[in-house]
Amino acid sequence: MTTNRYGSIAAEIYDIDKPYFALADTAFHLERFQGFDRPILEPACGSGRTMIPFLQAGLDITGFDPSGEMLDRCRDRCAEAGFSPDLSRQGYADFAYDRRFGAILVPVGSFTLIDDFAAAMAVLRRFHAALEPGGVLVLDMQGLAYLASGTQDRRRWTAPGGDLLTCEGVRNVTDWFRQRAETIYRYERWRDHQLVESQIDVMAQRYWGLDEFRMALETAGFEGVSVVGNYDRSRGVRSSDRGWTFEAVKPFLSRAAGEGDRAP
Ligand SMILES: C[S@@+](CC[C@H](N)C(=O)[O-])C[C@H]1O[C@@H](n2cnc3c(N)ncnc32)[C@H](O)[C@@H]1O
Repeated sequence: MTTNRYGSIAAEIYDIDKPYFALADTAFHLERFQGFDRPILEPACGSGRTMIPFLQAGLDITGFDPSGEMLDRCRDRCAEAGFSPDLSRQGYADFAYDRRFGAILVPVGSFTLIDDFAAAMAVLRRFHAALEPGGVLVLDMQGLAYLASGTQDRRRWTAPGGDLLTCEGVRNVTDWFRQRAETIYRYERWRDHQLVESQIDVMAQRYWGLDEFRMALETAGFEGVSVVGNYDRSRGVRSSDRGWTFEAVKPFLSRAAGEGDRAP
């Protein structure tokens, strides 16, 4: 599995580009978890875009992320908001806790950053093991159609201190066999018309079909899979949806081997 690095410029841009509540996912997930009284785990929590509104809503949320830059921003932003949640530097493949969670939330498509089918299945099993019996997994993702989408991405932002930040992404792999795309992002920082810093981050993603992911969840031991398109519960999923939100339950009587959740 490729580690998708979020370096310091990418992390800075992330917070400028995606302020709290700018994307539809946060309000949708807050509504879903309103009054939820069990601990929630957010894998790939990044800089806290989702976590901080959850903490402000009184929810008990823990996060991990492999990017030191994203985690530093998360810690600072949590502290500014008066919170000090359990944050740790871990990845999908080997995260570990000495307790289980009532829910796992993976917003905004971060699961697609697992670019290999077998690795993704292992992570779903790890999510299953990390949940209490009866716990729920809520996971957003972009659909397979993204594999066919644009191969060039050029954007710019002005940082609060006045620096010009630019990002140019060029897709260099589109692998339909493995449903995998790889994009090379070049980030630059310009000050007084001078290039002062540049970084390259490679982003590798695997995209899933709707029924394929439903079956993957069931294979990993989840039940009761439901799907919402474009954060709109008022209608069914559509092929034109930009994103899907899957919800699935870890049953009390677990089918997954070695789970030890069988009733006495
Ligand atoms: C799109 S950001 C999402 C951040 C946050 N969940 C949010 O809602 O804004 C994706 C995050 O995935 C993290 N990431 C990349 N590879 C990962 C891996 N192997 N395991 C866990 N997280 C990973 C990145 O460091 C980044 O912070």
